[in-house]
Amino acid sequence: MSLPRDDGHVHLADYVPPAWRIRHADLAFDLDPDATEVHARLSLDPDPDQPGQPLVLDGEELTLLSIAVDGRPLAADRYTYDGATLRIDGLAGACELETRVRIHPAGNTRLEGLYPSGRLLLTQCEAEGFRRITFFTDRPDVMPRWRITLRAARERFPVLLANGNPVARRELDDGRHESTWENPHPTPCYLFALAAGDLDRVTHSVRTAEGREVELNVWAEPGDVARCEYALGAIERSLRWDERRFGRGYDLDVFNVVAAQDFTMGAMENKGLNIFNARYILADEATATDADFLAIESVVAHEYLHNWSGNRVTLRDWFQLSLKEGLTVFRDSEFSADLHSRAIKRIEAVRVLRGRQFAEDSGALAHPVRPDRYREISNFYTLTIYEKGAEVIRLLHTLLGEDVFRAGMDRYFADNDGRAATIEDFLAAHAAASGRDLAQFALWYSQAGTPELSIAEDFDAATGDYTLTVEQHVPPTPGQPLKQPMLVPLRFALYDVAGAAITAAPETDAAINPAGFHGVATNGAIVELVAARHVLRWRGLPGKPLATFNQGFAAPVKIAFAQSPADLARSVRVERDEVYRWDGLQRLAMRAILQHDALAADALEAALDDLLADPAADPAFVAECLALPDFDTLADAMAPVEPDALLDARDALLDRLSRALSAPLLARYDAMADAAAQGLEGPAMAARALRNACLAWLTRHDPAARLAQRQFDAARTMTERGAALRCLLHFGAPGAAAALADFRAQFAHDPLVTDKWIGWVVTRPQASASDDVAALLASEWWKPANPNRVRAVLGNFQRGNPRAFHRADGAGFRLVAARLAALDATNPQVAARLLGGFEGWRRLHPPLRAVARDTLAGLEGQLRSPDCRDLLARLLVD
Ligand code: ARG
Ligand code: ZN
Repeated sequence: MSLPRDDGHVHLADYVPPAWRIRHADLAFDLDPDATEVHARLSLDPDPDQPGQPLVLDGEELTLLSIAVDGRPLAADRYTYDGATLRIDGLAGACELETRVRIHPAGNTRLEGLYPSGRLLLTQCEAEGFRRITFFTDRPDVMPRWRITLRAARERFPVLLANGNPVARRELDDGRHESTWENPHPTPCYLFALAAGDLDRVTHSVRTAEGREVELNVWAEPGDVARCEYALGAIERSLRWDERRFGRGYDLDVFNVVAAQDFTMGAMENKGLNIFNARYILADEATATDADFLAIESVVAHEYLHNWSGNRVTLRDWFQLSLKEGLTVFRDSEFSADLHSRAIKRIEAVRVLRGRQFAEDSGALAHPVRPDRYREISNFYTLTIYEKGAEVIRLLHTLLGEDVFRAGMDRYFADNDGRAATIEDFLAAHAAASGRDLAQFALWYSQAGTPELSIAEDFDAATGDYTLTVEQHVPPTPGQPLKQPMLVPLRFALYDVAGAAITAAPETDAAINPAGFHGVATNGAIVELVAARHVLRWRGLPGKPLATFNQGFAAPVKIAFAQSPADLARSVRVERDEVYRWDGLQRLAMRAILQHDALAADALEAALDDLLADPAADPAFVAECLALPDFDTLADAMAPVEPDALLDARDALLDRLSRALSAPLLARYDAMADAAAQGLEGPAMAARALRNACLAWLTRHDPAARLAQRQFDAARTMTERGAALRCLLHFGAPGAAAALADFRAQFAHDPLVTDKWIGWVVTRPQASASDDVAALLASEWWKPANPNRVRAVLGNFQRGNPRAFHRADGAGFRLVAARLAALDATNPQVAARLLGGFEGWRRLHPPLRAVARDTLAGLEGQLRSPDCRDLLARLLVD
């Protein structure tokens, strides 16, 4: 960690260890929304390798009330505080620093540091929010042990929670009470948390594999606690899974989770006290969809699993962010895959990766999984750090196999427990466990951009020789014009005319790591590409084989392979890998949409017809196949991007397919009614997913939307009711307005369900939806201080309504841009997310690009936060 250079960036290369360590932190809070006092006693040790350095602590918006060293008040000429750092010179050696500061939670609209959410007081410290609570070395490689005392008015704040284990409680005079917590694990301050207020809980005790009794609690505001049971179950499942799959136990006596309505991100893994956006906790079948339940389980798992990948082993500096986030996304996705359908989980991850992360990788904000400089770290909580970071771990898993990967993980945890680690430490553990040199693999962390593989085939009918030439290209990204070839484990398979796998290994060029060619596995063989060009050759085949690549989407790359629609369709029938089969259908759809390829559309129709008729096909898989590539995925394959033309072509394909397949769609919809009726088990969820997919297609040709209206009226679950209402709204059904009014009234008191109908309204796929957004922005429903509501109105519009957002007259862009200055003044991170939604503007076709440029240029000088100023500069740089 280091100070920014003159270019305004913090650089990875400038890292220096802290000159002072904090061995122990003892904090006492007198909580009050208007004026909270924080009394901190820090035990400080100078780094023996850097003697004589001043003590420099971070502190923002703090009113310093008193300061003392070793019990003696510090004279005013012994320290300086400039509003950002507190500096004390001349400290001789180990000492205790005592400060008292006052902060103002009620005025904290940024939701960073200590802030109010409804009647609660809560914290969010990652990445650099702790400096808004007290003076501290706010960097992750400073890891004290902690004692935290909370005092507050008992009536208003009956529950007082902090990190670690509760150790004491007592009543104070004048109606106040006090609760003391101890966190014995070395923990950086970004993992600090407290929560205070009138909270209720659901609770469950478990005994860990190591024999520790642990109390699991989920806390929410009193009226919401009935909807916390599912999240509580998800904690226990996560705990058991980490014991089984990674051999990692839980290490405190309590695990507390708190749900908050006002939360900038999804959730936060504070040691022993996770704080969550309520949308990832509260659920019952009447108010949450199946997708919500699965998201809750996966976010609960994500935060729980951070206890080892992030907390026990933490980060040396913020450049290493993906060391915890990529790894933890990998871990939570394996958790979901082990508990549910692995194929469906993978398909959904690939959809996000290809739609959103690939767009990030090819847009103005592209950056490596480990950036080497930043102006504002908050802008790096990105799909690249999280999702691509997880893909890199998955690649390692593919290269090493489960057993060696697990040995590498064991070694990583053992060697780095209680430490602030780096990506080098992670790779070193895996290199040691596997005996492999991972130097080339490490390029996945330093080079931005999605690798592209072009594959050409050649078959010589006379000799039976078949060759595949694979060329790798990593496109230029901002600041990285030239790239080296990456190590790509490419799965492939060859099939003969009868559809049987050809198991003969190819001859390969010398550049391929001889150890790198794995024989035929269930989903085909893996070849480890290491160079810009490779040739694989088979000799004497009886006929031209059918080649398939990247089963399981094992490598996060783009593949260009010239293949006829007929061959592509045949490969979908021959391959057993569901991810490949789904992907093959997506590629047929892309060709039909982007190249107006009628043969591809025919092949897709035939394949979907077969799937709908196949009683053995998993309904959830069929539903995934019915979901055609979304706008982002299509746009990424097109240059320049013409949104209207692209969306028209997509609509035309949907119209054609849904008309041609209406009979099997209806048959399937009806046949699944019973299976869809019951509970949260996988088959019921799968049945509802397929029914809802069928419903959306059928409603295209049902102007009265009778089926959707019937489903809406009869619905027992939010999954059914919400999908029906969405159809009514999106197809402008006669009953839409009445249904919406009914739904709105029923859930008016529930902000999370309100966010849902707002989401369906603003994503109506017509240009005029921007008028509905404008109306919402002028209504009582617009609550700009609540991040979920901002995302519901503007985030959904921007990301989920490509038609209206990209209106040729610029009205869509302006609708978002016009709100940014005010949002930035309230909550810079929320504003920055929306600003980042313009990342693809340069790839738009010229007239729209000019409109986007004007809109962005018009923001210059209006956005004050470092977050938005950093993004705007990166968006506009030439
Ligand atoms: N570490 C949190 C997670 O589980 C996210 C924290 C986000 N903080 C931020 N400033 N963006 O992924
Ligand atoms: Zn995380």
